[in-house]
This record gives sequence, C-alpha cells and structure tokens, in this order.
Amino acid sequence: MLFSRRKSSSLFTPEPFMMKQAAFNGRKNGNLSIFVVVFSVFLFALFMYNEDVKSIAEFPFSSRSRAKSQEVSHQHQDPSSGQQEGKPKGTESSTTEVETRQDGGEERRRTKVVFADEDGPAGVRLPVIKEVEEAAHEERAAGPKEKIKEEEKLGEKEVEEDRTVVVERTVVSVPEGCDLFTGQWVYDNVTRPIYKEHECEFLTEQVTCMRNGRKDDSFQKWRWQPRDCNLPRFDARIFMERLRGKRLMFVGDSLNRNQWESMVCLVQSAAPPGKKTLVKNGSLNVFRLQEYNATVEFYWAPFLVESNSDDPNLHSIQNRIIMPESIKKHGKNWKGVDYLIFNTYIWWMNTFNMKVLRGSFDEGATEYDEMDRPKTYRRVLKTWAKWVEKNVDPKRTMVFFMSMSPNHIKSEEWDNPNGIKCAQETEPVMSLPHALDVGTDWRLFDVAVNVTRSMRKVPVWFLSITALSELRKDAHTSVHTLRQGKLLTREQQADPANYADCIHWCLPGLPDVWNEFLYARIASSPWSI
Ligand SMILES: *[C@@H]1O[C@H](CO)[C@@H](O)[C@H](O)[C@H]1NC(C)=O
Ligand SMILES: *[C@@H]1O[C@H](CO)[C@@H](O)[C@H](O)[C@H]1NC(C)=O
Ligand SMILES: *[C@@H]1O[C@H](CO)[C@@H](O)[C@H](O)[C@H]1NC(C)=O
Ligand SMILES: *[C@@H]1O[C@H](CO)[C@@H](O)[C@H](O)[C@H]1NC(C)=O
Repeated sequence: MLFSRRKSSSLFTPEPFMMKQAAFNGRKNGNLSIFVVVFSVFLFALFMYNEDVKSIAEFPFSSRSRAKSQEVSHQHQDPSSGQQEGKPKGTESSTTEVETRQDGGEERRRTKVVFADEDGPAGVRLPVIKEVEEAAHEERAAGPKEKIKEEEKLGEKEVEEDRTVVVERTVVSVPEGCDLFTGQWVYDNVTRPIYKEHECEFLTEQVTCMRNGRKDDSFQKWRWQPRDCNLPRFDARIFMERLRGKRLMFVGDSLNRNQWESMVCLVQSAAPPGKKTLVKNGSLNVFRLQEYNATVEFYWAPFLVESNSDDPNLHSIQNRIIMPESIKKHGKNWKGVDYLIFNTYIWWMNTFNMKVLRGSFDEGATEYDEMDRPKTYRRVLKTWAKWVEKNVDPKRTMVFFMSMSPNHIKSEEWDNPNGIKCAQETEPVMSLPHALDVGTDWRLFDVAVNVTRSMRKVPVWFLSITALSELRKDAHTSVHTLRQGKLLTREQQADPANYADCIHWCLPGLPDVWNEFLYARIASSPWSI
C-alpha cells in the first residue's frame, strides 16, 4: 500500500486519544488479502520503529518536526509499495470499518481531561494500524506525548487519488454536561484570530472592517472561555472529515449569513486554491470544497416561514408580512442536508407587532392582522419544528438552532453616555453595576428554548449565544461596512449616529466563536455509519 502524508495541525496534538474509529478505504485493490495488509503493516511498523520513531524523539512540537515527518513518510513508501506489486489490480474497493478502544478506562479518562485542557482532538484507529502503533511502541519507553505523535502520524496518511485512503475519524472530547455558554471573554492575542482577514478571499465587503478603515483590531482577539471546561480549538481538517461527502447549511437571516461567512473562512484553509468555489444563486449561496465533496451553504429565509421578504435582494423593510404556517417552499431546499443550522430574529424587531397575512401570497392576498410578537414567533417555530420532525432523519442529520444575535444601539445601556451607538467601543462589556440590558427580546429566547426542547423525534441543539454576545459591543461592523451595497463614504463614516451598523459583526470576530460552539458539538458527536 502506498501512503502519502498530508500535513496537519493535528500532528501536534498533545495527548492520546479517547476513542477513535478509522475507515480504511482501499480504492482499486479491493480484494486485498489479509496477508498483504498484515505484511505491509509489518514493514510499515518496522520502518516506523527504525526511522520515524527517531524523528519523533528528536523533534519537539514544531514545524520542523512536521517537515521531517513528511520526509520520512515518503521514504517508507518504498518497502510497502513493493508489496503492492503483487496485489490484484483493478478490483473494486473494499471498506473496513472497525471501532476500537485503544486504552483502558483509566487512560481514556485521563486523556479526556488533558485534551479538554489542551485542545487536542481524539480518535481511534483500525486494529491493523493499532498493531503498528503498539509494535512501534513496545521498544521505546515512549511517554504519552510521543505516543500521540506516533498515532497522529499514522493517521495522517492520505489520499493518493487512486490508491489507499485512510480517513481519520476523530472524536473531539467535550466534557459531557459542561455548559459551554457560561463563562467569560478572555483577551488572547496569541491564538486569536483563528484566521486573518486578508487570508480569507471569500469575505464580503460588509464584514471586512479592517480593510474598510477600522483602526483597532482587538475585537478579533477575544476568546470565549467557558467556566467549567474548554472549547476545543477549531481544526479545519477534523471538521472537514465530518463534512466529507456532506452538506452543511445555515438557514435564516443576515446574522446567519454572517456566521456562514465565518464558517467559510474557518474551513477554507483545508482546501488548496482552485479546489474551492463559492456560487451565489438567489436565496442559496454554496461554498464547495471539491476534495471533500462537501458544501457549506447559506439559505436566505429571514423568518424561516414564507414572507414578503424572501427575495434576498429586494425586500421591503417596513411592510414585512409573514405566513406563519407556510414553510414548504423554503423547506424543500433544506431536505437531505446533513447539518442544518437555523436562526430567525432580527426581522422580528422592526415593529412591535407582527403582520400576519390572511391567505396566501400566491393567491394575491394583501390583507393582514397585527399579532403579538412572541405569540407569532411561537407559531412560526411550531411550524418549523413540525417541518423538521417530518423531514429530518435524526440518524443522518444534526439540527441546530442559534439563539438571537443582539444589537447595541444605545450606549447608555453599558454606561457610556458619551458613546454613539456601538461606534466607539473597543472592548467587551467587562463589568457593570447593574444587569446589562441591550434591548434583546428575551421572550423570543424563551419560546425558542421551549419549542426546541419539546421536539422529541428530532433532537435540536440550541446554541445559546445571546447573553455572551450581548457583552460584545465592540465587535459590530459599525461604520466600517456597506450601505445599500456601497462602502460608507468618509462623511457617512463620520456620522455613526446615522450610519453605524450595530447589528452585524466584523470578521474575523464574534461569529467565529459561534462556530466554535457548532464545531464542539459536531466534532464531539459519535461517528455514525
Ligand atoms: C499581546 O498583548 C499583550 C498585552 O496586551 C502585549 O504585551 C503583547 O505585546 C501582545 N502581543 C502581540 C503579539 O500582539
Ligand atoms: C458528494 O456529496 C453528495 C452529497 O452532498 C453525495 O450525494 C454524493 O454521493 C457525493 N459524491 C461522491 C462521489 O462521493
Ligand atoms: C439557480 O437556481 C435556480 C432555481 O433554484 C436553478 O434553476 C438554476 O439552475 C440555478 N442556476 C445556477 C447557475 O446554478
Ligand atoms: C416555557 O416553558 C416553561 C416551562 O415549561 C414555562 O413556564 C414558560 O411559560 C414557557 N415559556 C414560553 C414563552 O413558552
């Protein structure tokens, strides 16, 4: 078998794994005899013992060790490729998938704790590989760190288009029951931002605040620290393995689009230039990573249900009318998606009451009733929940609901009487002598909690980002953004009272953290087959 190694940040994972699965996907040489596998593995193990182990011992976690290990992996292709000669050619591929627990319970537990503290991934490998690991292990008194490096390297053998693929199935460890949303903002200019503004060509001008003239960049450097555990560090490759052959879709309003743009930037580093495309077509925006046959999509449906605001480019602001029981037209675009992330909030906030259509737009109805906001929100979410329970297969699809993204319109609310909206804020709310109230309609939050909780057939992950985002008065696009498709002029920028956008968020920035919650849930879920 030929292996070639792909470089990976997870090479530097500090600790052993908790539980892992690996899929072994031999494409052409399906009828691989067990003998060949075992023998190649044996050679491989031998090699690992002779060469790779040395390099592991020599190089600490550094980019040098990465270079070294890649080099080594090329060398070891030779002995095993010799074996490949003797294999039957042109047969179809076989896939073996075995789950195995690598360590005793004790060790696993330790691993889990350590990983949670140090942001490593976790996983287990095929038994054949496991043998290799153990073989390579026996003769050197390897400490846990060396061991993990070894495991990681073995897992990093990757695609040679027509040869063997080892798909590493990592399960990231997130302590069960830990409330990720209770915690604090920590200034961290070492690990943040996760990506740079100029590195992500897919960001729209709406969110590139630095390029649009913002001077301070500290808003990019706050990390969310849950009180009782750690958020795992976003690893694009681990995440993309989850998305391999799959679709992930954000559905909702412009705040979900904000989060989608963040997600595109978070994953795009996993694909080389030219192997990723972004296509916008009406309500649907599709970012595709070809090597993974995966998409990260955004579907515009600001109320989830049908409304007269469903044209992504042309919609009335004042006269928004919704059809609370009508969702099929949008819903048909969400069917079969593997990860669905919903939201709806900002468009509920323009008026005190909601306009609910009598009849259907299709039939030309124009009359409407004014209805209480939370009641209507409930009706809409009930419609949505019914759609989800009818159309989503929980064995295949994970469903998320993002709680509301808050605004920062009145600076008195965080005791800055001289501020102008959010325009002069350069750090999060740190402490206040009173509770922070930025005008969020928490009644809608309660409705969303209740509705999602009541869904029995399809569990929905409710991501409670509202309170922690309320602290981020510093993170909005403010005057460093567009208005009606055009960058604000100097004069407009000088007039934040009229022009500051204190609804949307700069990128990199807060929505990256929302996606870290998504990552934590997706990457820590068990692999289903
Ligand atoms: C990070 O922040 C600290 C404290 O604010 C500062 O002293 C240091 O120079 C910063 N480092 C970088 C790389 O910006
Ligand atoms: C690519 O992904 C789609 C789902 O997004 C799936 O239906 C299709 O089978 C995949 N194709 C390959 C070649 O894996
Ligand atoms: C855009 O979407 C429409 C309707 O959803 C579809 O018919 C059309 O083929 C799409 N165009 C492109 C270029 O994908
Ligand atoms: C949510 O559920 C709780 C407990 O079941 C109930 O007390 C509360 O009134 C509900 N709130 C809303 C807005 O439905």
